[in-house]
Amino acid sequence: MAEATYPQLEGEGLALRPWDEDLAEQMGNWGVRGFPYHAFDLLHLKDPVKRALTVESCREEGPHRHFVAVEDGVAVGRVSVNLRDPTGSYIWAVHVPPEHEGRAVCRRMLAVLMRWLEVEHPRPSFALTANAFNEHAHRAYGALGFEVAETRWNYDREIAEALWRVTPKQREPVQRLIRFQNGRWQTKVHIFRRQPGAPMDLGIRESEGAAT
Ligand SMILES: CC(C)(COP(=O)(O)OP(=O)(O)OC[C@H]1O[C@@H](n2cnc3c(N)ncnc32)[C@H](O)[C@@H]1OP(=O)(O)O)[C@@H](O)C(=O)NCCC(=O)NCCS
Repeated sequence: MAEATYPQLEGEGLALRPWDEDLAEQMGNWGVRGFPYHAFDLLHLKDPVKRALTVESCREEGPHRHFVAVEDGVAVGRVSVNLRDPTGSYIWAVHVPPEHEGRAVCRRMLAVLMRWLEVEHPRPSFALTANAFNEHAHRAYGALGFEVAETRWNYDREIAEALWRVTPKQREPVQRLIRFQNGRWQTKVHIFRRQPGAPMDLGIRESEGAAT
């Protein structure tokens, strides 16, 4: 395996490591959420060929940095960042599997990542996009100093394809935040921005000892 061109990051009880075979195998066994979060599911990593290709592409030189958040050798989250997006450091693929949710893994891994980016890859702002129905993610981003800069209708291929297949009952929770326009499904999204140095409230409860 080629040497990763960026370092492992440490902090808040986590190591943020470049993808490797072992971590990708663990991620292939993560719990899945299905619609409307199915695009995050990583079952394809169970296949050794797809896994090897994914690991290789995640480690190659380019604008993106792909990290796996690790606690005591266990993969508990993942996040990617595009360093060269015209809007700033663009964070994407923020994902904590159901079995590790609710322990501030998302907040801690984004905090570690953004502190590193502020020093090593400074840009005028951080940006990310979240579906308007994703209130759990909005709480995490708000705590980290992100604010909604813009709300708009968006075409997301994976959600649009699933919307043709799901039952009206499955569609119900997102009903208010989707629409069928010009022959295709659209989803309402929020574009979030954060200024470098904005305060972050990780809400770490001392008794649970998440800090290093
Ligand atoms: C959205 C997502 C990333 C959130 O992950 P998470 O690690 O549970 O999120 P957080 O870091 O905010 O966890 C904090 C939650 O744990 C609670 N918590 C429990 N123990 C805690 C501790 N020791 N310290 C701080 N918070 C703690 C917090 O109160 C908070 O509660 P909330 O869920 O009511 O906000 C995750 O649900 C996910 O991957 N979802 C599917 C993919 C997705 O939607 N990604 C985002 C795309 S924009």
